[in-house]
Amino acid sequence: MLYIGVDLGTSAVKLLLMEGDGTIQKIVSREYPLYFPNPGWSEQSPEDWYAQSMEGLKELLADCDRSQVAGISFGGQMHGLVILDQDDQVIRPAILWNDGRTQEECDYLNGTIGKDKLSEYTANIAFAGFTAPKLLWVQKHEPENFARIEKIMLPKDYLAYRLSGVHCTDVSDASGMLLFDVKNRCWSKEMLDICGVRESQMAQIFESYEVVSTLLPEIAKELDLPETVKVIAGAGDNAAAAVGTGTVGDGGCNISLGTSGTIFISSEKFGVDKYNALHAFAHADGHYHLMGCMLSAASCNKWWMDEIIGTKDYAAEQAQITKLGENHVFYLPYLMGERSPHNNPNARATFIGMTMDTTRADMTQAVLEGVAFALRDSLEVAKSLGIQIERTKICGGGAKSPLWKKIIANVLNLKVDVIESEEGPGLGGAMLAAVGCGEYASVEEAAAKIVRVIDTIEPDEELATKYDARYQQFKQIYPTCKPLFDIIN
Ligand code: XUL
Repeated sequence: MLYIGVDLGTSAVKLLLMEGDGTIQKIVSREYPLYFPNPGWSEQSPEDWYAQSMEGLKELLADCDRSQVAGISFGGQMHGLVILDQDDQVIRPAILWNDGRTQEECDYLNGTIGKDKLSEYTANIAFAGFTAPKLLWVQKHEPENFARIEKIMLPKDYLAYRLSGVHCTDVSDASGMLLFDVKNRCWSKEMLDICGVRESQMAQIFESYEVVSTLLPEIAKELDLPETVKVIAGAGDNAAAAVGTGTVGDGGCNISLGTSGTIFISSEKFGVDKYNALHAFAHADGHYHLMGCMLSAASCNKWWMDEIIGTKDYAAEQAQITKLGENHVFYLPYLMGERSPHNNPNARATFIGMTMDTTRADMTQAVLEGVAFALRDSLEVAKSLGIQIERTKICGGGAKSPLWKKIIANVLNLKVDVIESEEGPGLGGAMLAAVGCGEYASVEEAAAKIVRVIDTIEPDEELATKYDARYQQFKQIYPTCKPLFDIIN
């Protein structure tokens, strides 16, 4: 049978067609615009997601035997607020995961309600990108829109709704709303009250591998697919990527170098860190995970290459980099503020340490290193909890660079297992569809049979020691700059 994985990303939707044994038959991608209506704001049109996904599906299915398609599932950008009225029409553009407008609402939640209560109700505290603070923002700034809300949805769930007619979500994505009791895998009545919403406005919760429904007849007709094709709930893109890289069960680690950068640690047991610096979310395999999320990762490199030095040849720029561990330039990667671990929408990107002999290659290198150092910030929090990690998988656009993978291995002092397909969320989505359709008995079984490690990048002792010294310096830059970030915003 064939399974479709839809990776609803921030710059594009990527669709992947997988055979039952995990062979990838085809991948297509469709872009859509991202809007920044005010500094620090980030929005998208749910209609664009739907239109581009449908066009992408048609292209994906063009030459395959459509009668063999059994299921479709998703990995989606997390936390985005999609609100629907009583006719299921989208009320306003979606407010995305990297939107920083809710500082006041986060201060209210973390301060007045209190971090302890938030952590007790949801296992997490408020971060600007999470969904609950955005609801409070709409309530305050757009009361007429707030009054019209009949359903509150997440990005990939809006797509699942358009395909299946069911208002559904899954436990991993729901975890990032700050409205969900992660430990008990249900909506938090306390948080719904705090945000002034009713449970009937929330979507029905599924495990990520559960069947929601089948395709709506009109959708099946438009895509020329059997009406029996199952829609499986899917997962937030990081949990889906973890499935796609085989980061399931206990103690697995995956780094995603996409628009955002995440370090994802799978766990069979529920756990929260003392300061809630890492997110404690449900995993798509039926268990839990901890995650650190930086808001700009591969997007820093893209910004530097495309917008600043004006090239599309990333590999040629990286080929000039020869002095690993000896760069005197540092870069703070906070182009959209920062989530983990600083929780500061006012943080900004910064270069520091240039001299007259600094080269373009040094600056490019600093960007790659700055992202790696910032990922290490989250790894250090995990280590402080006694979690021991020796190796990680890696996926996302940035993982295509061998140099960046080497920098990550040495800055984080981890063995980096390179897998055959770094398609992350799309592959994870297709695997969840296969589990939902009964091709595999569990997500763990699918991961064990499908994911193959083809290479390992080992950290080099001397280089890791040099990077450790540089990291100790990097760590001091943010606290030093922080008061300035508040002034310059
Ligand atoms: C995770 C997060 C990002 C988005 C990117 O908490 O906000 O990784 O999911 O799509």
